[in-house]
Amino acid sequence: MASSSRGQFTTRLGFILAAAGSAVGLGNIWGFPTNTAENGGGAFLLIYLAMVVLIAFPMLVAELTIGRYGQSNPIGTLKKIWNGKPVIAIILGVIAMIAASLILSFYSVLAGWLAGHAIAPVLELVSLDSAAKWLVTETLARNMFLTALFSLMTIYVVQRGVADGIEKWSTRLMPVLFILFFVMIAYIFTQDGAVKGLKMYLIPDFSHISPKLIIDAMGQAFFSLSLGVGTMMVYGSYLKKDANIPKTAGQVAAIDTGVALTAGLLILPAMTVAQHNGVQIFNDSGELLSSGALVFSVLPNMFETMGTAGLFLAAMFFVLMVIAALTSSISMLEVPVSCAQEELNSDRSIATWVIGGAIMLLSFVICANTGTLIDLVALVSTVYMQPLLGAAWAIVLGWVWHRNGVLKELQQGNPEIENGLFWKIWPWYVRFVCPIAIFAIFALPFV
Ligand code: PHE
Repeated sequence: MASSSRGQFTTRLGFILAAAGSAVGLGNIWGFPTNTAENGGGAFLLIYLAMVVLIAFPMLVAELTIGRYGQSNPIGTLKKIWNGKPVIAIILGVIAMIAASLILSFYSVLAGWLAGHAIAPVLELVSLDSAAKWLVTETLARNMFLTALFSLMTIYVVQRGVADGIEKWSTRLMPVLFILFFVMIAYIFTQDGAVKGLKMYLIPDFSHISPKLIIDAMGQAFFSLSLGVGTMMVYGSYLKKDANIPKTAGQVAAIDTGVALTAGLLILPAMTVAQHNGVQIFNDSGELLSSGALVFSVLPNMFETMGTAGLFLAAMFFVLMVIAALTSSISMLEVPVSCAQEELNSDRSIATWVIGGAIMLLSFVICANTGTLIDLVALVSTVYMQPLLGAAWAIVLGWVWHRNGVLKELQQGNPEIENGLFWKIWPWYVRFVCPIAIFAIFALPFV
């Protein structure tokens, strides 16, 4: 039976690091700071924080609870909740799987570029200058090479399974990430120009607030916490029954938000340091150069102005990005792989290679059309599909699954929950407020 061979996270810390590893990724270190820089600094920061607390956190608890109850892949879990209506369960599960795969397809391209920027400084140090240049110059061949490299790393970890692959690697890699981060922040604040970036980050300019900013902030919150696409559902299904879900979710959300805020503390000052060093960051009309330009030209330029130390820092920074991306990409691939493994009884390794390979082909198509497809796929999958799927899970939890069942699931690992404030507010909140708020935010541009 497939279910008797299910993996499980072996320790509490292992789960938290894996879930936080999924949450912490390019969304935090790249998406959040560039969104913030593009949208009036502090104003975006405030709306984003509101979105995390008011919508994303309650939805994270919802997805983890649904997943742990189901003890299965997202399709299997939804079938269990929808006892008797497998077709709706399968359709929703498949849409989530498609969304996870779409995200992975563009994510691998971006992460591949980052890997190129991580390897290039090392090659430069050993005087392989032309190879280094090849890795950081936009060509189809290098895009495909780097995308394949990153995709293979993702496939390698996922086919090893939950405890041996995902948990082991997340536990190893996440602490390295934190250490690298703090070293870089300490460094950047020794540089002239950093304070200007800090001010931009912390002093809000409310004239930027618009329906688009609010929709973007919601998408960013869903993306950052890996919501909607079944990732947190499937990670929840590997969570032990004695874990306190609201508390665990709170820790994961806190780590994720902490890393995003910290990344802002690194990237925004790094931008103004680069500006101080003569690198162009804003165009003539005062808008930020594209976010790709920010990461792939502004930052490398900044590192270049630092001499040999810059080479080490560049390698460190981009290694950090690749690590963060890998602990996220493995959680995306886990969604379709777990469905294939349990619903179709496939062998885990074969399923991982076949599905991972198919997504890699999709990434190659994106590689050939980076200018248009990356933004388009990212917009459809993260700004629209993630929050709308989130609304679907809120409806599943609030309206399809019985309240008593939800309470029973949450009581495991938290027997006192029935008497606390959380249980008085949260079920009602997920039932009514979350779906209505998500739809209302999408309606904003039309009012
Ligand atoms: N949360 C990840 C990030 O911020 C992205 C992600 C989205 C991961 C959806 C899994 C599922 O980069």
